Amino acid sequence: MCGIVGYIGVKDSLNVLIDGLKRLEYRGYDSSGVSLLCKETGNIKTIKKAGKIKDLEDEFKKNKPCKSHAGIAHTRWATHGEPNDVNAHPHGDCFNKISIVHNGIIENYRSLKNYLAGKGHKFVSETDTEVLAHLIEHFYRKDLIDAVKKALLRVEGTYGIVVISSDHPDMLVAARKGSPLVIGRSDNEMFIASDASAIIAHTNQVLYMQDEDVAVLTKNDIELSKVESAKSIDPEFVEIEMTLSQIEKGGYDHFMLKEIFEQPESLRDTEVGRLDKENGTARLNGIKDYFKKLLDADRIVITACGTSWHASLIGKSLIETYTGIPVEVDYASEFRYRNPIITERTVVIVVSQSGETADTLAALREAKSKGASVLGICNVVGSSIARETDAGIYTHAGPEIGVASTKAFTAQVMAFALLAIGLGRKKLLSFEQGLSLINELEKIPGKVNEILHDKNKIESICRKTYKKKNFLYLGRGFNFPVALEGALKLKEISYIHAEGYPAAEMKHGPIALIDENMPALVIALKDSIYEKIISNIKEIKARKGYVIAIANKGDKEIKDIADDVIYIPETKEEFSPILSIIPLQLIAYKIAVMRGLDVDMPRNLAKSVTVE
Ligand code: AGP
Ligand code: GLU
Repeated sequence: MCGIVGYIGVKDSLNVLIDGLKRLEYRGYDSSGVSLLCKETGNIKTIKKAGKIKDLEDEFKKNKPCKSHAGIAHTRWATHGEPNDVNAHPHGDCFNKISIVHNGIIENYRSLKNYLAGKGHKFVSETDTEVLAHLIEHFYRKDLIDAVKKALLRVEGTYGIVVISSDHPDMLVAARKGSPLVIGRSDNEMFIASDASAIIAHTNQVLYMQDEDVAVLTKNDIELSKVESAKSIDPEFVEIEMTLSQIEKGGYDHFMLKEIFEQPESLRDTEVGRLDKENGTARLNGIKDYFKKLLDADRIVITACGTSWHASLIGKSLIETYTGIPVEVDYASEFRYRNPIITERTVVIVVSQSGETADTLAALREAKSKGASVLGICNVVGSSIARETDAGIYTHAGPEIGVASTKAFTAQVMAFALLAIGLGRKKLLSFEQGLSLINELEKIPGKVNEILHDKNKIESICRKTYKKKNFLYLGRGFNFPVALEGALKLKEISYIHAEGYPAAEMKHGPIALIDENMPALVIALKDSIYEKIISNIKEIKARKGYVIAIANKGDKEIKDIADDVIYIPETKEEFSPILSIIPLQLIAYKIAVMRGLDVDMPRNLAKSVTVE
């Protein structure tokens, strides 16, 4: 998820590495570190620090760095183990002969750790990554490449890694599966990084590594092969033409758009290691000690703000549907001052992308002071909310930089779906039902990808509507919170007044607003209340309203009723919010761009609201 830089050549490697890390800062991180192959001693020197890269530099001032022409560096965005100095990368083996930086998640790290500990390996951190360093050590018999490959064949999960060894001071070994790595070539030097922005200042000749590739870099050469075979592959370098700022945004114009397009990947990261097909359930290790408490709860109370509150509303429906346990959802800002009723059997779940929202944190503390068990659904590992909850589920969506939350929302809904299935299997769901839900969840990232790459009518719809002053968003059932979220997105970045409503409520008031100047976005999927929503659309049309429908592919009826239709793939009704929100995110984004607004930094808003 976060940043990797590696260098081998003739320059002072520390400068190149620190400069590269600074170029990766925009991605968000919680700690950083560097390992240098020291020229004079032949040893590896590692310095790492929680906090900003500036803190790492200060540490180097205190701890004089050695002379070095090769090394690796990392900015960590913690997934396993809180962000502190020890958990920061690089990680080493038992004898400081091997050092590694890693992006991604090693899913089977627990069993590997137990195995290696049994063989006498000593672990110092809580990370999944450290296991990889020891696993390479375990297989090492003078051939570093062979040991790396053997280790990688034993791991499940995702990785982008770069490894150095004091026995092989003239090489860096890199490999990728799921986490990007790009190699840069110049005269007498090679660079490697998790994204090109860390390299572009030095060279525009790059090679994008493919999944399962293993690369061995020396200052003048690269050898490429696959994890499972020694057969060498011809390295193909290409020229990058992008500017630095474009690259930081991965070629997208804005972080928000990049994050919208990252959703297939971020959703996969939320699911990874949690879909248990054997038992037709979801595996959530983070909360396993609280499972019984949840199952015995008289009531579950979910509390959050903004987008996280919308995800919580969907979470409520999911949990109630699969478990029969009553669930309430409260704004954190209301909950904290409402003297909420908490019994010994109430479980509170707080939901937050940043883990630092002041109202949510205060609600958490209020619930705890009343004796509730408090669980978290959080994106940022080691954040205040993650630390203060009794246990939790990390969403693993990766750093979200755009102020308007997008990938964090879909990851939260996914986390709720997993939680609801896990609990549901002990309540209302049979094995077959559980398995069919798990199988469908597995397909969701692919379906999101399909929507993102569909040549749909979003652009032309936005052209028609971007000058309007008011919008109505309507949905029912699982998609009512999506209507709220779609409206919030438009408000936040386009400064257009938008209201989200349960479609049937429209006739109790908002219908008075409808005329040809008020576009109504209606989520009208082929679900249990399809016919009802069709009636709602007809009510709008009868009043000359302009209707944009989000409908399922294959729905022939809808195009005769709505003015414009955006089609999305079918899925189970309960999971449909993860798909139906995607066009609404894109609409908000495109309208804001057409209005010439600053999408990533909308006026008056902060990414994380740490004040009341
Ligand atoms: C979402 O687009 C908003 N910027 C905002 O509503 C946000 O969801 C809210 O402030 C909660 O933040 P959190 O998830 O980090 O706690
Ligand atoms: N899973 C690793 C960790 O928690 C890597 C995280 C990252 O990609 O930064 O340390």
